[in-house]
Amino acid sequence: MAHAGEEKAVVVESREWYMAAYAPDGIPTSKHLKLRTVPVSLTADSIPEGHVIIETLLVSIDPYLRSRMTGVDEGLYFPQFNINEVLSATAIARVIRSRDSNYSEGDIVIIFFCPVSEYCVVPSQAISRKIDPNAGVSFPDYLSLIGLPGFAAWVGIDAVGEAKPGSNVFISAAAGAVGMYAGQLAKLKGCRVIGSAGSDEKVKLVKEFGYDDAFNYKKETDFDAALARYFPNGIDLYLDNVGGKMFEAVLNHVNKYATIPVCGMISDYNKVWTNREGVRNLLNMVGKEVKIQGYLVGTYMDRYEDFIKEMVSYKKQGKISSKYKFYQGIEQFLESLESLFTGSCAGKVLIQVK
Ligand SMILES: NC(=O)c1ccc[n+]([C@@H]2O[C@H](COP(=O)([O-])OP(=O)(O)OC[C@H]3O[C@@H](n4cnc5c(N)ncnc54)[C@H](OP(=O)(O)O)[C@@H]3O)[C@@H](O)[C@H]2O)c1
Repeated sequence: MAHAGEEKAVVVESREWYMAAYAPDGIPTSKHLKLRTVPVSLTADSIPEGHVIIETLLVSIDPYLRSRMTGVDEGLYFPQFNINEVLSATAIARVIRSRDSNYSEGDIVIIFFCPVSEYCVVPSQAISRKIDPNAGVSFPDYLSLIGLPGFAAWVGIDAVGEAKPGSNVFISAAAGAVGMYAGQLAKLKGCRVIGSAGSDEKVKLVKEFGYDDAFNYKKETDFDAALARYFPNGIDLYLDNVGGKMFEAVLNHVNKYATIPVCGMISDYNKVWTNREGVRNLLNMVGKEVKIQGYLVGTYMDRYEDFIKEMVSYKKQGKISSKYKFYQGIEQFLESLESLFTGSCAGKVLIQVK
């Protein structure tokens, strides 16, 4: 029986995803990523000082997660998950018990490396920030419009790409999370913007986002010919999300001083590096004096507040929109991750846990 001041012990069964085996190549399967159920005590007394118990509300599914599952530390992004370790991803969660005076029960927080679980205990230092549910920004928008993909699009188009009015801009994976914002931002800067995507429905969606035109790259047998058609005046800025053969084809159509901000190269994420595509025409970057620059959003944190102000203002003016693909329940983690590589998703992929 609980005494005065003591909380009655409550334990819930919580499901969590963990790394069972590495997947050096191919799309990870249920052999690599597994779901298990563990008991989590929801009593404040059961957690150490400086910790909180959270319930996960919304999980962001991002392609970089794949790089933590290969078992090969390429030193590119974040370290490999350990075998048996609970996976982590960016999430919005509700604090349900707190042993840190900075956080109270009911606070809504964003956690960058949040265990992919229904309930868990985390050190309060793991919390990136508290969010105000009444600030006029929806929870999905926190993880997308003003989260990683929105920022990656903004850095690519603005900070690295320095898009100018009239520039001819090409964006691959245009119907994806980064792509949808990148195209809209480039249009807002007065560019002519063309996108590529992997289905006719996605091409339609890309046009709804305001792109001038778009094509289904899966229907094109010759990327060179496609780019010649869509860029009679050449490409000034290519925001690369996919790498591989598209990257190579772009280099045959760049204008003098073109810029290629390399956001990601998803076509290579499921291949060991020796099986990835090579680029045969890199020489073009010399003659055309092309700037090819890889970037990580983390390097641009000093611009983060500028970015948020700009995106929120566009949103309030109805100048930028988002599309979401919601998976329901933590059990859909594997399927949601898979969808990034099969292309069965469009817009930003999220799991609605609660
Ligand atoms: N640098 C950074 O800081 C940073 C931050 C965030 C994201 N990123 C990168 O940005 C890119 C887009 O990320 P996102 O979150 O917006 O993902 P996303 O575009 O929403 O989802 C991935 C999309 O990539 C396409 N794709 C998958 N495999 C492909 C292949 N083999 N060839 C061509 N396209 C393929 C699919 O669309 P289709 O159906 O059109 O093929 C899929 O829907 C990724 O490369 C990611 O790593 C970088």
